Amino acid sequence: MIEIAPSILSADFAKLGEQINAVKAGGANILHFDVMDGRFVPNITIGLPVLTSIRKATDMVIDTHLMIVEPGKYAAEFARAGADMVSIHIEADPNIHRTLTSIRDNGAKAGVVINPATSLSTLDEVLQHCDFVLVMSVNPGFGGQVFIPEVLEKVRRLKDMIVRGGFEVKIEIDGGVDKTNIGRIAEAGADIAVAGSAVFGNEDPAAAVRSLIESGTKWV
Ligand code: DX5
Ligand code: ZN
Repeated sequence: MIEIAPSILSADFAKLGEQINAVKAGGANILHFDVMDGRFVPNITIGLPVLTSIRKATDMVIDTHLMIVEPGKYAAEFARAGADMVSIHIEADPNIHRTLTSIRDNGAKAGVVINPATSLSTLDEVLQHCDFVLVMSVNPGFGGQVFIPEVLEKVRRLKDMIVRGGFEVKIEIDGGVDKTNIGRIAEAGADIAVAGSAVFGNEDPAAAVRSLIESGTKWV
């Protein structure tokens, strides 16, 4: 069954604790935390102080997606601050093996993120060193963008690479996920789907999570 990871990027930050409790009540176990630096992507969001506060407020799995340049300088700090999963963009890090190791050494699952235009072949040498791959289904930077359908085929090919290689690697997908595509995403082989506006854009985020889980289950 596919897991839904609500992205707090689309939450109401004045009611963050309440909204986190709502998505948990709706059946989500993973909370997606988007960090943007205004350099790797043209937007600035949240960082370590917010993560530290959320860590104290919830036992949900915190999945930190670093959309920053030089992620090797910060990834371990996010793990130490309580993130359970930390992912870094392969496009941003020439020493990705070292960064993945630093995340794992600090007790978190290590993930590699690939943008829509980045080939799966870039993963050939890293699949054995990561716990999950985050496949972007929009160009990162903003919530509320339209899902790029070609990514479904990419997820299928990645699933095949993982199975053939015998790796213990999960597939996560991020961007434009909603009720109309979650079934096809699950069918393609994704284990986790991030959803921002489809959850927090709804006036009842708990019901939105329930409905996504239900729509994603019909296909598998
Ligand atoms: C986009 C972020 C996403 C974003 C998804 O760059 O990485 O996690 O919050 O938002 P939606 O689901 O609205 O596309
Ligand atoms: Zn994200």
